[in-house]
Amino acid sequence: MKDQDRLIVALDVAGATQARQIVQAIGEAATTYKIGKQLFMAEGPQVVRDLVASGRKVFLDLKYHDIPNTVAAAVRSAAELGVSMLTVHASGGSKMLKAAVEAASQSPTKPMVLAVTVLTSLSDSDLQELGIAGNVLSQVLRLGALARAAGCGGLVASAQEARELRKALGDGFAIVTPGVRPAGAAAGDQVRVVTPKDAIAAGATYLVVGRPILEAPDPAKAAQHIGDEIAAACH
Ligand code: C5P
Repeated sequence: MKDQDRLIVALDVAGATQARQIVQAIGEAATTYKIGKQLFMAEGPQVVRDLVASGRKVFLDLKYHDIPNTVAAAVRSAAELGVSMLTVHASGGSKMLKAAVEAASQSPTKPMVLAVTVLTSLSDSDLQELGIAGNVLSQVLRLGALARAAGCGGLVASAQEARELRKALGDGFAIVTPGVRPAGAAAGDQVRVVTPKDAIAAGATYLVVGRPILEAPDPAKAAQHIGDEIAAACH
């Protein structure tokens, strides 16, 4: 993998026009873009097709959580769009995760299935309220192990969790880490942020970065700078 491919730009914008402007502005500085619920709900699958047709890779972050049959069908549809990565909720259970992995592996494009463990917006007391015994970290490790056993290619995890997941589960799977800020940047509403260097050191494979690039006066320069920080941390 090229170091530059470790950077994923979160296209958290309201519409295709803005998305196109950002992607054009970034140019060669990044190749992979995350499309989430906001942009997908506004523009539908065409925004994914267009990005794929332009030679970019797409990480479709719709966090599927449904019965296995429905999730498998959604994975097949996403694979047909040409996405490289997609997300499911690990809490959908083994059967759902296996169905997602099987659907992905049987498709011609074989997207990587990434599992979300515990949303970072949830605290220990939120889990208690949901009837889950144990704290956030133990639940992350439990669901991470479940997703690995089901054959998922990777996990979405904060840098803090990444470290614990690597310790518990070893290598051989991808960890995608959001909440990354280049040294000296504004945190926005992210409570815990890490630098690219720290994220790589914690065991992250891919780094998702949104606002530090989207809101930069020169998005290409910002992406390039983060790409350089990643490359420096990898060597
Ligand atoms: O703008 P920022 O760099 O904070 O964007 C991070 C991206 O990662 C957003 O698309 C956000 O929804 C996503 N994300 C996150 N924290 C998580 C999971 C996903 O920030 N725990």
